[in-house]
Amino acid sequence: MLKELEAIHADALAAVTEIADTEGLEAFRIGYLGRKGRLTLAAAGMKDLAKEDKPAAGKALNEVRNAITTAITEKSDMLQSAADAREADNIDITLPGYAVERGSRHPISQILDQAVSTLRRMGFALANGPEIETEWHCFDALNTPQDHPARNESDTFYFEDGCLLRTHTSTVQIRTMETTPPPVRIIAPGAAFRRDEIDATHLSHFNQLEGLYVDEGVSLADLKGTLEYLLRSIFGEKTPVRFRPHFFPFTEPSFEIDIMLEAQGKKSKWIEIAGCGMVDPDVFNAVNESRTDRAYCPETVSGFAFGLGLERLAMILWGIADIRLLIENDIRFLRQFS
Ligand code: DAH
Repeated sequence: MLKELEAIHADALAAVTEIADTEGLEAFRIGYLGRKGRLTLAAAGMKDLAKEDKPAAGKALNEVRNAITTAITEKSDMLQSAADAREADNIDITLPGYAVERGSRHPISQILDQAVSTLRRMGFALANGPEIETEWHCFDALNTPQDHPARNESDTFYFEDGCLLRTHTSTVQIRTMETTPPPVRIIAPGAAFRRDEIDATHLSHFNQLEGLYVDEGVSLADLKGTLEYLLRSIFGEKTPVRFRPHFFPFTEPSFEIDIMLEAQGKKSKWIEIAGCGMVDPDVFNAVNESRTDRAYCPETVSGFAFGLGLERLAMILWGIADIRLLIENDIRFLRQFS
């Protein structure tokens, strides 16, 4: 029995060196360790041995089984690394890789950066407020009466609890004055939402830039100078700017601002670009009531406010004909602004 085990051991170790692939290795394993394998059959002979011979035979049997198992594992590892090496040889390291394309700033971000940096140089600080607002911050405090069309369900997204998606960033005027006594000089870029039918000039989710300056003795001349400077920094130094009387509930007097531009080779014309005005005393009074003080006393402080639509600004600046292009993420479109 011991002799036979020794022969199996020697044969196995010799055979394993000849194996060239995984199929061969599997056949080897079955030939020695399988149900009818040589070692399995030899082990079956154990029961015929004399009792005193059994321990030595058992030990030899285990040694031979371990040796064969180890040889199989080693061979399998060898075959695997040889296969890996062949695979690696087939990789053409001179092939160019996949280029990761560099993106560019979205037109809205570019306009925003430019407006914000100009206004910051004039002393405006960034402010913000929530997009989900109370009716009071969006309308009542801004002197917008209950029956104003903007408050209609068909124009504004309302939640069941009476809150709403802010329809303009003017809410940040109120939020800022509630928490900060004058003087305040802030700009608040952000999203606004309206239940508008989406078309070439309307989105239901768009971006505005709000501004507010309140201090003692702020005048219409300050408003005019600030906005002319801002608009000329964006559209060019010589751009004509016009203030046309208008109505907003939260400012008095109120204006729409137009700039004179040559639109895509056509004759120059006035284009409406922003709303603005002197803060209405009723807005100060609403804020005072909420603050429970008289910090914004209309007899001692005055202020101006303005609001512009960033999509509109970008469309005019770059002659973009359809507002929807700004949200479609089409690289062919966006790449033109890099
Ligand atoms: N909130 C106005 C809108 O969304 C824009 C606006 C007009 C803002 C006049 C102002 C302002 O601050 O003074 O149409």
